[in-house]
Amino acid sequence: MKIIPKNPIEIAKMRAAGRVAALALDAVTPLVKVGVSTLELNDFCERFLRSHGAVPATLGYKGYPAASCISLNNVVCHGIPSKDEVLADGDILNIDVTALLEGFHGDTSRMYGVGTVSPAARTLMTTTYAAMMAGIETISSGSYLTAIGAAIAQVAEPAGYSVVREYCGHGLGRKFHEDPQVLHYANTEFPTTRLRSGTTLTVEPMINLGTWRTRLNDDGWRVTTADGALSAQYEHSILVTETGYELLTASPAGYTCWPYV
Ligand code: MF3
Ligand code: CO
Ligand code: CO
Repeated sequence: MKIIPKNPIEIAKMRAAGRVAALALDAVTPLVKVGVSTLELNDFCERFLRSHGAVPATLGYKGYPAASCISLNNVVCHGIPSKDEVLADGDILNIDVTALLEGFHGDTSRMYGVGTVSPAARTLMTTTYAAMMAGIETISSGSYLTAIGAAIAQVAEPAGYSVVREYCGHGLGRKFHEDPQVLHYANTEFPTTRLRSGTTLTVEPMINLGTWRTRLNDDGWRVTTADGALSAQYEHSILVTETGYELLTASPAGYTCWPYV
């Protein structure tokens, strides 16, 4: 595993890319309503990114066909937006956008609720957000990579949830996915790896109401929970700093966890 920290010029570009991605998720918020299709949300995000000088990095990435991933209810990740997928009262969804701006990536996702959301779904979302932040809080120059997954699991598992294992966070920069691989569950995969100031990576746990096991849909992308139970995810792009971390995809509107008010 080769983790290469960014220089100050690269870090400035990472900040700019992260900001555009976060702004897109802020801007799409009022559109998330009963009767809207996930394709409409996707198209809004695509127009937003392009009008801010960015390119949606998912489009064409390994053949992925859309400008965002929108993952509804029991979809864990990589849901392909569709005009036939129309939001209904009580749905929860994750919108994941990746802006490519001046050669650098900003990658972030948030949960959204539609209309009246069940207490079980609300608690899943708030716990997933808390788990992501607990993982992020471990980060500083010299911190262990494995601390991230341990902290996430310590929030999610006592609450009765499971942490998805097959999909992980990642370094990002000029490349969409680069080293390190960020596991979101308790692990000893790279027990000696420490983070260094200037490294940029994502933390993006997928937390399930039931089993952590997943299934890949026939379209080759959409990942669902194996038992059909709900799944939630939040994602931030992070810069490791001397004293801690910086959220490269912090919401300029101040949004954190749904509901956004
Ligand atoms: N944005 C996703 C992530 O957080 C990756 C999507 S890859 C795609 O890493 F091909 F599905 F778009
Ligand atoms: Co990511
Ligand atoms: Co993402």
